[in-house]
Amino acid sequence: MTHSITVLGIESSCDETAVAVVRRDATGTHVLSSVIHSQVMQHKAFGGVVPEIAARSHVETIDDLAARALAEAGQPPLDLVAATSGPGLIGGVMVGLSFAKGFALARNLPLIGINHLEGHALSARLSEDVAFPFLLLLISGGHCQLLSVTGVGDYARLGTTIDDAAGEAFDKIAKVLGLGYPGGPALEAEALKGDAARFTLPRALLGRKDCDFSFSGLKTAAALIAYDHVKTAQDRADLCAGVQAAITRQLVERSERAMALFKAQVTVSRPAFVVAGGVAANQAIRAALTTVADRNGFELKAPPLKYCTDNAAMIALAGLEHYEKLSQEGHQAALPDMNVGMATVARPRWPLDEISAANAPIHKYSGRKGAKA
Ligand code: KG4
Ligand code: ZN
Repeated sequence: MTHSITVLGIESSCDETAVAVVRRDATGTHVLSSVIHSQVMQHKAFGGVVPEIAARSHVETIDDLAARALAEAGQPPLDLVAATSGPGLIGGVMVGLSFAKGFALARNLPLIGINHLEGHALSARLSEDVAFPFLLLLISGGHCQLLSVTGVGDYARLGTTIDDAAGEAFDKIAKVLGLGYPGGPALEAEALKGDAARFTLPRALLGRKDCDFSFSGLKTAAALIAYDHVKTAQDRADLCAGVQAAITRQLVERSERAMALFKAQVTVSRPAFVVAGGVAANQAIRAALTTVADRNGFELKAPPLKYCTDNAAMIALAGLEHYEKLSQEGHQAALPDMNVGMATVARPRWPLDEISAANAPIHKYSGRKGAKA
């Protein structure tokens, strides 16, 4: 590669406002700046993200954040603006996307709308040279899915949740146990003090052999145990340990099935198994996934936490990778056309693998399996 590409990325799909500048040149991929404003304190009192508060907070912070990101990056000349245009909380997505459109228009830059999930899918490539194809487990507060990532824009969904995301299960169970928000880290800390074998918790979708997830049964079971049996700090720690073990077991089982499917489709000697999303911060889950990756001939790669949770560097990178792909394919003429990005609309739901989502819009059994997934 002889030239360099510099991209401004914008992310506002949930409760983090984020702006980043990412450059790729002959020496590699460089995050010139990545600033994040977390709204967690604004939502804490409500035990979860309140969409209207989130949207207002994005409006209030995005200008300053963009100015900071550009200043920290040294005000570089830009080639492209990339903004999350879905899926997510629609008010927030609209704020980031509208800002991006205004910025791109003012600077006469092309704009590309990015699928937030694609940002997560490619995020491991921010910090190291993870080659395609790889298997991805995305475990966040909003998403829980297994994807085969063959190249930029080429994603096949192998499994998804039919109800809650893994992080959502952590958060909701933690809320019932009075552990506050976000619940994942608090539940993990409690689990360290508990006995995972004390309470019997259900295993989801036992009769099925696919890679789908379900956490609603676990959530209900944990809530019932909490009401009836959790009286002391030790009871609570034991339930936390059991819940964490149950979530871990499900993630491991489905990942192992997806590894078999992936290996049947591609011939790579030791492919990467990338784990992204906030839940990847959980040490017990990381350890279990490392073991299952080793056992199946995969190399576990987890992006550094700052790129694992929501950020704009991953959105900038996704934009950059699309831009590069167009250039490499000789579609230079298409690049100015990326101004059609101006017509991009914000989407609350936007499956990364549109074909799988179209083929399975409603789950065959119970539960939801649609565009959110
Ligand atoms: O990726 P992320 O920052 O935001 C999105 O949802 O997109 O993920 C946040 C989720 C929350 O549900 C949070 O409880 C969970 O990740 N999480 C954890 C841990 N740290 C964050 N879950 C379990 N254990 C953790 N240590
Ligand atoms: Zn996310």
